Amino acid sequence: MGKALEGVRILDFTHVQSGPTCTQLLAWFGADVIKVERPGVGDITRGQLQDIPKVDSLYFTMLNHNKRSITIDSKNKKGMEILERLVKTCDVLVENFAPGALDRMGLTWERIQELNPRMIYASVKGFGPGPYEDCKVYENVAQCTGGSASTTGFRDGPPLVTGAQIGDSGTGLHLALGIVTALFHRTHSGKGQRVTCAMQDGVLNLARVKMRDQQRLTHGPLTEYSQYGEGIPFGDAVPRAGNDSGGGQPGRILKCKGWENDPNAYIYFITQAPVWEAICDVIGEPEWKMHPDYAKPAARLPRLNEIFARIEKWTMTKTKFEAMEMLNKYDIPCGPILSMKELAEDASLRGTGTMVEVDHPTRGKYLSVGNPIKLSASPSEVERSPLLGEHTDAVLTELGYASDEITALAQAGATATVKKVAAE
Ligand code: COA
Repeated sequence: MGKALEGVRILDFTHVQSGPTCTQLLAWFGADVIKVERPGVGDITRGQLQDIPKVDSLYFTMLNHNKRSITIDSKNKKGMEILERLVKTCDVLVENFAPGALDRMGLTWERIQELNPRMIYASVKGFGPGPYEDCKVYENVAQCTGGSASTTGFRDGPPLVTGAQIGDSGTGLHLALGIVTALFHRTHSGKGQRVTCAMQDGVLNLARVKMRDQQRLTHGPLTEYSQYGEGIPFGDAVPRAGNDSGGGQPGRILKCKGWENDPNAYIYFITQAPVWEAICDVIGEPEWKMHPDYAKPAARLPRLNEIFARIEKWTMTKTKFEAMEMLNKYDIPCGPILSMKELAEDASLRGTGTMVEVDHPTRGKYLSVGNPIKLSASPSEVERSPLLGEHTDAVLTELGYASDEITALAQAGATATVKKVAAE
């Protein structure tokens, strides 16, 4: 079965997390992703947070599956010649260096268009045009500048960053969509184009409902926020709302049996209006179904703290899985708080390939998150990440270099000779 992006060649100049997330997705869909790395150094994450000495870190391996690695010194004249040949033969160039780095190498958009007018040139940067356009940015900076941190956490505490990497991986996802859209456009325009995604913009897009609330604030208090029921006035900006639901159906994280010793013995419980009567029966408050203070959603809004305290009295008598099972019988939307350990061991996630075990020549077996996007006609197989420069000779040969030229390039410092990988 052919892969969806088979035949698409990607010149992958990405590093760290945001760019690699994007090119990994494209590789999973079948694109030939050629990752360019600096000789002897490579993507900095190869050596970051190493759990096994001198072995590519999980940070690197989990973000660079299904890619090939070629080492090229872009600051070496012959290295740049190789890069220009790659530009001519690839469909997409993806990069997430600090602003201006690719221009300083000599690969300006104008030069790229001269070399290959069909080239799609895609970049992640921290900010779009404006006062911060030259700044370097990492994940948490994007979460803070994109509106996520100011709206995450509790009202009486400091802003919080989330565990989900919405700045890096989130922007990588946005960029991947931009690239496939540009590839589709090229099928009828015949031309490449620039695709850019700023991390601040990507986070703001994901925090869209909070911008919704910012505008609602001008027309009155946010009645679904706990703060409303507590009688605390709103200021002029959207406050942090703890675990209140961001939608029209109030929800909270509630303690379950064992919460005293297990930091994840909690469940997210949503008091969805259509199943309110079932909720009243399950928690043992059938009279609430007719009571004027509880029967209608609008009447419940100022009493959410009291209502969730009563529901929690019930959830605390059940484990999170028991509660989930009982609530599901009535279609009451809820979800247990799952730890990374529980997710790693989850049989259904293993079954769908969302959690996969991968074998690596120097690391051995490790667990990874696979492709979360499932295509029925072109499933993804997760293949291990490349060793530094593992495919240098193969890619150079494909570009037409003879073996003596390949040796000369390594001697000139344009590339690096690479140890052969032991048979796997
Ligand atoms: N050969 C030679 N030099 C190379 C090279 C290669 N194959 N690949 C990269 N380089 C050089 C670049 O030319 C550049 O050098 P220069 O600054 O002298 O021009 C340098 O390596 C890249 O530097 P930079 O991107 O500034 O790396 P950094 O480690 O200082 O900064 C980030 C890291 C992530 C902060 C920065 O790249 C950035 O802000 N990126 C955009 C936003 C982003 O994606 N952030 C999230 C990352 S998960």
